Amino acid sequence: MRTWPIVTVASPKGGIGKTTLAFELAGALGAVLVDLDWDGGGATGRWGDSPERRVRSALLTGLVLGFGPAPGFLSADGRPGLVPSDTRLAELTGIEPGRVIDRLTAWSREWGRPVVVDTHPGTGALSDGAIAAAQCVVVPMVLGGMELAALASFLRMRADFPLLLVPNRFAGRVRERRLLRQLWNLTQTYKLEVAPPIGDHPWLPHRGRRAALVLTHSPGSQVTTAADEFRIVADVVRQKVGLVPSVSSANSLEVAHA
Ligand SMILES: Nc1ncnc2c1ncn2[C@@H]1O[C@H](COP(=O)(O)OP(=O)(O)OP(=O)(O)O)[C@@H](O)[C@H]1O
Ligand SMILES: [Mg+2]
Repeated sequence: MRTWPIVTVASPKGGIGKTTLAFELAGALGAVLVDLDWDGGGATGRWGDSPERRVRSALLTGLVLGFGPAPGFLSADGRPGLVPSDTRLAELTGIEPGRVIDRLTAWSREWGRPVVVDTHPGTGALSDGAIAAAQCVVVPMVLGGMELAALASFLRMRADFPLLLVPNRFAGRVRERRLLRQLWNLTQTYKLEVAPPIGDHPWLPHRGRRAALVLTHSPGSQVTTAADEFRIVADVVRQKVGLVPSVSSANSLEVAHA
């Protein structure tokens, strides 16, 4: 059976752009977006749903028992297909990472589409499993002193995974430029790949629309600029996982040499 890539977005710190990036990558890759963040900071809230609303959560049941949740589909208004989160995922602290790997791998095959996973900030059994399952682990980061220190300790444990650092909210400030050398040292120590940065877009937190920027129809110039940055990161991810646009349709994707 053809394999489909799993792309996990993870970072040691909260509020750093994981969910924003996961949402845009899922939109750009035509992927199913699986939300493993249970406390409201994840893709479910960004999508316009709530992890607290779940009564019988397909994701929770799926992780525990193995049944594949129904894959979400791209909505007409440009939101990527979502498998929503559930607050009770917080109780899965003892789940073995191996089980998370098996589930995500089986679901990506069943769904016949790439999977993008949004995670809770920091470490934990679910995040560790999703990181180990991924063919690309996308790590957004902002250039700050504390952020780089947290990133360094995150990397010490995870340097062997296929990581892709994505500088986020990058504005070329003097402080950021000073920290570039520290970032460069980390990339040398851990042989890290770094994607072109996403800029700082102060309007983004206040944006009312729920569509992914990369899927917005008739975008204005602000959205076009930001969407292009996310598309470039998506292209880097595509190359890293061997996902190429199919010749027959620009919207359908397949894995090269799978
Ligand atoms: N490039 C950017 N420019 C401006 N604002 C941004 C950018 N990326 C993300 N943000 C904003 O930063 C805030 C945090 O982003 P996001 O929710 O994606 O982070 P997170 O790492 O998923 O957070 P959490 O750890 O709470 O889950 C949001 O208000 C988002 O709109
Ligand atoms: Mg989040």
